[in-house]
Amino acid sequence: MARNYEEMRRIYMSGGIDEAEVAADPAEQFHRWFAEALDSSPGDWFEANAMTLATSDSLGRVAARIVLLKGFEGDSPLFYTSYDSDKGRQLAENPAAAVCFYWSHLERQIRIEGRVEKVDPELSDRYFQSRPRGSQLGALASQQSAVVASRQVLEDRVAELDALYQGQEVPRPESWGGYRLLTHRYEFWQGRPDRVHDRIVYLREDAGGWQRKRLSP
Ligand SMILES: Cc1cc2nc3c(=O)[nH]c(=O)nc-3n(C[C@H](O)[C@H](O)[C@H](O)COP(=O)(O)O)c2cc1C
Repeated sequence: MARNYEEMRRIYMSGGIDEAEVAADPAEQFHRWFAEALDSSPGDWFEANAMTLATSDSLGRVAARIVLLKGFEGDSPLFYTSYDSDKGRQLAENPAAAVCFYWSHLERQIRIEGRVEKVDPELSDRYFQSRPRGSQLGALASQQSAVVASRQVLEDRVAELDALYQGQEVPRPESWGGYRLLTHRYEFWQGRPDRVHDRIVYLREDAGGWQRKRLSP
């Protein structure tokens, strides 16, 4: 039975954003908030680095899904996936992308927008080799986003590859690797009472550097 969604609401009380305190560089501000999200972690289940990634194809059809933040190059967030997946195909057609974090226990949202580029293959190799062997085999066995006849087909493929690479390094599939999000906009949102929230946006200036503004909630 459907819940009464209309009556579900939360009063945000945790804090506010003091403009005098925020970092001049938005990546630095991200790292501060990320550290605070981890320090106040509500439990082992909490994945602070899970972010919603929105992409769209050449016809403007939009899709969103969660991926994991796996690092930064300067102020560019990094994530890893299959270049042949639906998102990979969309990003090849239209490199514009946005990511969004929501840390419910802190009543904070961070939005980051830009365009993606593939990272260097050496970096993808390095990260792939750092993953548990099971995840490596899983990535090799899966044609991400393609229809598969059954779960058994996938499990048989993993077992086959496990036997094939027994005692050896599992090679990174060429179709699997990282993207960096070259950013032009960061936004930090802190929930406040009566929906009068704080929103601080950073916009990249042509000359380099960032312009900072407060947005109406
Ligand atoms: C918590 C969580 C973390 C995920 N991390 C990744 C990831 O880092 N990379 C990835 O390709 N998919 C990840 N996924 C799966 C994606 O959400 C998605 O199902 C998959 O990438 C296929 O998306 P696509 O068909 O739009 O390409 C994750 C899902 C969840 C729920």
